[in-house]
Amino acid sequence: MDTKIVNLQLLDEKEQDAVYEEAAGVIRKGGLVAFPTETVYGLGANALDEQAAARIYAAKGRPSDNPLIAHISREEQLEEIAAYIPEAARILMKNYWPGPLTMIFRKKDVVPRGTTGGLDTVAVRMPDHPVAKRLIDAAGVPIAAPSANISGKPSPTTAQRTAEDMDGKIEMILDGGPCRIGIESTIVDMTEEVPVILRPGFITFEMLEELLGAVRKDKALDAKEGQNFRPKAPGQKYRHYAPKAPMTLVEGDVENAAAKIRELTEVSVREGKKVGIICTDETISCYEQGIVKSMGSRARLESVAHNLYEILREFDEAGVEVIYSEAFPSDELGFAVMNRLVKAAGHKEIQV
Ligand code: TXA
Ligand code: MG
Repeated sequence: MDTKIVNLQLLDEKEQDAVYEEAAGVIRKGGLVAFPTETVYGLGANALDEQAAARIYAAKGRPSDNPLIAHISREEQLEEIAAYIPEAARILMKNYWPGPLTMIFRKKDVVPRGTTGGLDTVAVRMPDHPVAKRLIDAAGVPIAAPSANISGKPSPTTAQRTAEDMDGKIEMILDGGPCRIGIESTIVDMTEEVPVILRPGFITFEMLEELLGAVRKDKALDAKEGQNFRPKAPGQKYRHYAPKAPMTLVEGDVENAAAKIRELTEVSVREGKKVGIICTDETISCYEQGIVKSMGSRARLESVAHNLYEILREFDEAGVEVIYSEAFPSDELGFAVMNRLVKAAGHKEIQV
């Protein structure tokens, strides 16, 4: 299949209108369109069409028990697909929609089980990105959209990375430039008495707690005990966000961690291996060997989140054979960053 890649930034308003019409037509006919959101690029299909959802699973190579998020552009659309909307959800909508927050509700019958991985709940998000919004508006249906990567690879944060994984498999890719946030949305299960965070993201535990009072974290997210629990978001159980090379996360005091990474790097280099180091602006000058990439300043975890997946993909491209990464305190946005790093490392962690 020929994939049409359109850079919207190069088009005038009239040309853009035509592109959105074409893309909306593809969605309505059961086809696939990748598009930018503020978090990562999504691979979109009509959320109410089981066969369209099946094509998403095929293009990604995704296990069919892993449900999709339905993306909406207007609050009324939530009433059409969610059977019950608790008061706490209305509070979160008011504060964080549109935005990087996904909520899980009991689903109505219009949402096929082929979209929800067989579950009777549906995950819903209203993205805060002009391209996503216009596409959903034009399509006139909720758009199911997982991250637009091949299953198991880091999520794409640019149209180029999306094309690497999806070119030839889908009808269209809308290029709206790089994603602002760079990691996927926070997922909160609103079907429980006390809302439960199933996947941490840019909207932090602390932010949710401040608004709602009581919030829990899914036990599977616990740094130490997590591996003993089955995550409630099926997607969280797979090795994920993973670079090709084996990765080790070095945790502890920043200086000691840097010293340990230097030591590990020296051993690997001596073994003739190509080493990638993931560090921060504060530590980059500590390293003399290997391919060294900073995710940004420790004082601005937003930039760390923004650069993380791109750096993992750059290491894939560079053919590094082993990766050592620094770690972060697991509060606020650090909770989401560490969740991705721990998974990228397949839980391979060293404490110093
Ligand atoms: O930021 C994002 O959320 C991006 C952009 C494109 O919007 N999308 C995204 O989708 O990350 P995906 O499919 O890569 O991740 C969705 C996660 C999976 O872990 C899945 O298991 C979980 O959401 N999920 C979806 N529906 C669920 C449900 N009904 N119950 C529990 N978990 C659910
Ligand atoms: Mg994903």
